[in-house]
Amino acid sequence: MKILFLDQSGKPGGAELCLIDIAKPYRDNCLVGLFADGDFRTLLEKNHIPVQVLTTQSIQVRKESSFAQGLASIGQLIPLLAKVVQTAREYDLIYANTQKALVVGAIASFLSGRPLVYHLHDILSPEHFSQTNRSIAVTAANRASLVIANSQASKTAFIEAGGRADITTVVYNGFDPKNYQIDASIIHQTRQQLELAGKFVVGHFSRLAPWKGQHILIEALTQCPQEVTAILVGDALFGEQEYVQQLHQQIAKLGLENRVKFLGFRADIPQLMSACDLVAHTSTAAEPFGRVIVEAMLCGKPIIAAKAGGAIELVEHGINGFLSTPGESQELAQIITSCLQEPEKTAIIAHHAQTTASQRFDVKNINQQIAQELLTKQ
Ligand code: UDP
Ligand code: GLC
Repeated sequence: MKILFLDQSGKPGGAELCLIDIAKPYRDNCLVGLFADGDFRTLLEKNHIPVQVLTTQSIQVRKESSFAQGLASIGQLIPLLAKVVQTAREYDLIYANTQKALVVGAIASFLSGRPLVYHLHDILSPEHFSQTNRSIAVTAANRASLVIANSQASKTAFIEAGGRADITTVVYNGFDPKNYQIDASIIHQTRQQLELAGKFVVGHFSRLAPWKGQHILIEALTQCPQEVTAILVGDALFGEQEYVQQLHQQIAKLGLENRVKFLGFRADIPQLMSACDLVAHTSTAAEPFGRVIVEAMLCGKPIIAAKAGGAIELVEHGINGFLSTPGESQELAQIITSCLQEPEKTAIIAHHAQTTASQRFDVKNINQQIAQELLTKQ
């Protein structure tokens, strides 16, 4: 089957990293069309997945855009659309991986007569998207032959927003467990390089954005024993510079300069996670899926996740990780401290998570599920 994948982003966010694993089995017979250039293109090339940047103009619609702003962007869309329609005629199926890709993909599907599949990576709730964006997304998605939701939480929100239940199925992100098995010598070396020896290290792995809640972890540190330090891994991918400044100010105000390190965007997540004692996920709005939660499990690290959205489907409190109320730094601090004080009990939970996650999210099984779904929609 020949697939034209579409993604609006040139940056490697979670949806894009997920697409790399989905596109890999089709690499001899697919094209990933991007609406912007960037590091994601390079990553696809490194994985030998054919990629083409389909436009040089970025599309100016944001999550909170109004109807008028949406209409104004149509002028930018026309040349892109023409290119997608022409390209789609050489493929059997259009697979849209992001919302702007969905809108373009839906029109291209109509004009080229190719079926449309939409991979929904978002929770389409008022917390995350404007009414206009939700209506546009649902109208376009309802024209698809198949909607793959990245969690039950994303599926439920889609249906509540008017999405069709009959075409929607849940498929979690897949991972190759081997990539998360890191040698003890590398872990030791990483801790030395980052000057983390002798510390209890809490890792936060996420782009820097207000709803990812790095500020909650920083606040929690003030309520944890002194040896608890944090590494913040990730960058502001979508222009959240003001939030980055706020984080630095918060750290200075609380006198935590020696207990928090910013590492920027990194490509060696499994190594860094394995060098931590614990991983914290602190999103203040419901997380659609949360790749970092599964990745921490695969590294055998205890995970504390914010109790909302897809995270609740991944973590069972006290069984394979811990859940903490979103935005509640005191509760987070208490859980971090009890992990520090009860290492044996915590290690058993982390080990159980590693074993179960290796099976539940194995990319081989996940790709098989997707392949079966696609075969029926061709
Ligand atoms: N990630 C990365 N480098 C970084 C920070 C994050 O490669 O510096 C990866 C992380 O390992 C995860 C993805 O980015 O696979 C983020 O996905 P997630 O679902 O957690 O959140 P999203 O950013 O997609 O909302
Ligand atoms: C999106 C979501 C994230 C999810 C990822 C992969 O970026 O924000 O929660 O894990 O897609 O599905």
